[in-house]
Amino acid sequence: MILCANFKANKTRQETRAYMAVVESFVSANDITDTIIVFPPFTALEHDPRNVLIGVQNGYPVKNGAFTGEIALEQLEEFGIKTILIGHSERRHILGETQEQIAAKFRFFAEQGFLIVYCVGEPLEIREQGHEALMAYIEKQFEGIDLTYSDLVLAYEPVWAIGTGLTPSNSDIELLHGALRMKTTAPLLYGGSVKVDNAGEIMALENVDGVLVGSAALSANDFCDMIAQAVELNTEKGE
Ligand code: PGA
Repeated sequence: MILCANFKANKTRQETRAYMAVVESFVSANDITDTIIVFPPFTALEHDPRNVLIGVQNGYPVKNGAFTGEIALEQLEEFGIKTILIGHSERRHILGETQEQIAAKFRFFAEQGFLIVYCVGEPLEIREQGHEALMAYIEKQFEGIDLTYSDLVLAYEPVWAIGTGLTPSNSDIELLHGALRMKTTAPLLYGGSVKVDNAGEIMALENVDGVLVGSAALSANDFCDMIAQAVELNTEKGE
């Protein structure tokens, strides 16, 4: 299983250190072999600890240059960062990133051999139009994206489920993930209002290989609880 904690614009450097200490010691004390990735804000970046990956929530697709307000490869290399989140709905819908910009980012960081957690997901009005419209919408989010890239993790995150407490039904998640499975062999994560209470149930679904968690992962203890739930499922799912 793959479990990701996306901090977004939350936590200071000090808070992140305290959080990492809890997660790292939980992972080593329990010999966790699942992939655990934490995406802190840029200001709290550190080199990867032994057993947890640190990724960035964004990056500008150049080595360095005149791009005010951006962080590029050179700054990420200083921290040994090799993991990045691309295509998150907040970057698409709040920060206005276009599919073209997202694809350029994907190409650049794939060339650099990054582990890419690539997010797709539909707004509510699209979901209300039915499965075909939903798949057509998601198909557009694959434009310029190499779904055969070897270090790809694909996260399905319905926009209307992010931070709202709403989730699709289990059968809707399975339907969607089944369709994604036909397109790629990459691990498939579900994201959007994953909590301690529903993480195990969601991770147990067919073609769900892990979760991408925002608000509920801000508590280190809750995130560890979700990791423990993944461990219990490993035998069941043959991982
Ligand atoms: P949420 O966010 O868990 O707070 O819904 C998920 C995400 O945006 O990755």
